[in-house]
Amino acid sequence: GVDLGKLMAQTNLVTLDPGFVNTAACKSDIAYIDGDAGILRYRGYPIEELASQSNFMEVSYLLIYGELPTQQQYDEFAGRIRRHTLLHEDLKQFFDGFPRDAHPMPVLSSAVSALSTFYQDSLDPSDSTQVELSTVRLLAKLPTIAAYAYKKSVGQPFLYPDNSLGLVENFLRMTFGFPAEPYDVDPALSRALDLLFILHADHEQNCSTSTVRMVGSSEANLFASVSAGINALFGPLHGGANSAVLEMLEGIQANGGDVDDFVNRVKNKEPGVKLMGFGHRVYKNYDPRAAIIKKTADEVLSKLGANDPLLDIALKLEEKALADDYFVERKLYPNVDFYTGLIYKAMGFPTKYFTVLFALGRLPGWIAHWREMLDDPARKISRPRQVYTGYPERAYTPIGNR
Ligand code: ACO
Repeated sequence: GVDLGKLMAQTNLVTLDPGFVNTAACKSDIAYIDGDAGILRYRGYPIEELASQSNFMEVSYLLIYGELPTQQQYDEFAGRIRRHTLLHEDLKQFFDGFPRDAHPMPVLSSAVSALSTFYQDSLDPSDSTQVELSTVRLLAKLPTIAAYAYKKSVGQPFLYPDNSLGLVENFLRMTFGFPAEPYDVDPALSRALDLLFILHADHEQNCSTSTVRMVGSSEANLFASVSAGINALFGPLHGGANSAVLEMLEGIQANGGDVDDFVNRVKNKEPGVKLMGFGHRVYKNYDPRAAIIKKTADEVLSKLGANDPLLDIALKLEEKALADDYFVERKLYPNVDFYTGLIYKAMGFPTKYFTVLFALGRLPGWIAHWREMLDDPARKISRPRQVYTGYPERAYTPIGNR
């Protein structure tokens, strides 16, 4: 019956745990990971079952509301999202302020942050109607924002959403279509993207989700909290890894495809040389999402007619690493990002855009955690402690005497 946290606070004891390797910041019902066994479940459902039988809209509902929807609940949810896909016209002008060659991630986070200025009737986290409205708005508008960021970067006109289409189809049309021209969404492409979104939809307390929870713990609104999460995802050790994998594979290809040489450079810990797409803080086994993606990568690439030599390099690299003591001893296996870049590339997305696709997939997870955090009766503002290692007290020296 001893409350260790309270006792430590009273005695001013703190734990030092850089990177929160062993510190749980909350209790959560959303995702379960067993890193040693390579298991991932959303709300109790194995990721493999959701990947083969569900769709991203349904998984979003499951993560946010805790249960699989009935048909009626599903239709209502999808219908509400369809009604909110448009962006405020003035928000469209926002995109013109950015340089053409801007990375789409800061464009995405800035536009999401700006939603707080356009939709002021859904900012109060203590009002359940407003929480619901901001949830639906964000789910509906992020694909539109992402497509606009893409269109801006390639200098093409924006397309309005076509609400006769589903979320993923609509996103693909807004990204790759042209105004007044028919665009038939390739079902193989939209199913593959839907699957990738399912696999990215939640992963408990990763860096971006923890950021969303931390910012939200100050009772910041959903748009502000998710905008912060998008910035956390931008980093190359997190969401940026999917772009970094492709850059790594292209680098190996440019050097004549010598996989052995690259692996040796990784093992020799040459500065800046890591096997991107390998390793995970929690998985010390094959990432179950990577296993699903590997299975589909080949299929999707051949369906899309892409015979990418980079896939051969990736396969060789994986084979080599899995048989090498350096990686075996450190339990380094492919993570979700190892194969996704190849699929995104085959779909026609530029490398810089890959992390945006991760953000689109992760959104329902961020929202689910933000809402769970708000509903937690034990909620407190996030405020870690520190171990001070600076100077003891010292006397101020006037500038002329330094
Ligand atoms: N390539 C080579 N060596 C690696 C790699 C890698 N990708 N990952 C870890 N190691 C080595 C470390 O150098 C360290 O070796 P040492 O014990 O000799 O010093 C050991 O393995 C342990 O690694 P840590 O960095 O302590 O592991 P941590 O849990 O802090 O890092 C991380 C996890 C950031 C994912 C890391 O494995 C990494 O940088 N991977 C590459 C980037 C990547 O793919 N990120 C995507 C993560 S998944 C996601 O966001 C969806």
